[in-house]
Amino acid sequence: MNDAKAAAWDANLYLKFADHRVRPALDLMSRLDPEIANRPGRAIYDLGCGAGNISRILAERFPAAPVIGVDSSDEMLAKARSQTVGPRVTFAKGDLTRFAPDVPPSILYSNAAYQWVENHIDYFPGLLKALPSGGQLAIQMPRNHEAPSHALMRQAATAGPWRDKLAKVGGIRSVWEPGRYYDVLKPLSASLDIWETIYQQPLTGKDPVAQFTAGSGLRPYMAVLNEEEQKGFYDTYAGLLAEAYPMRSDGITLFPFRRLFIVARRA
Ligand SMILES: C[S@@+](CC[C@H](N)C(=O)[O-])C[C@H]1O[C@@H](n2cnc3c(N)ncnc32)[C@H](O)[C@@H]1O
Repeated sequence: MNDAKAAAWDANLYLKFADHRVRPALDLMSRLDPEIANRPGRAIYDLGCGAGNISRILAERFPAAPVIGVDSSDEMLAKARSQTVGPRVTFAKGDLTRFAPDVPPSILYSNAAYQWVENHIDYFPGLLKALPSGGQLAIQMPRNHEAPSHALMRQAATAGPWRDKLAKVGGIRSVWEPGRYYDVLKPLSASLDIWETIYQQPLTGKDPVAQFTAGSGLRPYMAVLNEEEQKGFYDTYAGLLAEAYPMRSDGITLFPFRRLFIVARRA
């Protein structure tokens, strides 16, 4: 079991920054082809659907398509199922490393999930091959692991009595440079669009960047510490972040966040 699964997800904490997290999901969605998405007899899959909020937007945007959200987290699936959804949106428990669609897919969509899957790139050709000609594979992953938000997490992990416990924690898996995804997907694609966006996220409040990562990348670290260690580690991390991401004169902290987008159309 990898660390992403070992550390339970807290859907409410994750959704605290829902606006910032939804925006890239919508940017990715804007590149989906409605003709493909609404093809009869086929479904849109939302892989690593989390709390299901993006699955519901997919269903609203593509009114003829069944949408199937797949996730391995019981906590996230419980949240997803607790919201009102029409009969077209369903959620299934499943591991992305063993994903095989029950219903033939038109689109395989995934927002901010595959960075948690070790060697995720190895699964991408199989996903594209599961699509019909013209079908779309659409994936967004954060590529912020070299930024201070994540580098300082690793630094704080070694800066206290918690260091031994945190030495073995594997956080977010590396997301590689765009060319590597291009090389793997191009031979199977009729068209392939890869781009990056750096969102200048304006955050407010105390420890805003630590609060943001607390809902995602920080989880595997916090999960293995006791309460006292959690406090020490979190305060150390938040202190380092305050220097890297200073609050501006209007009270806003800008948190630049790089994300990688891939949209491949099956040849
Ligand atoms: C950061 S959340 C994103 C949720 C949703 N896609 C969104 O944009 O709001 C990442 C999700 O990926 C799921 N996940 C991570 N590894 C997974 C795996 N191997 N199989 C299935 N789901 C996985 C987690 O359970 C979590 O719900």
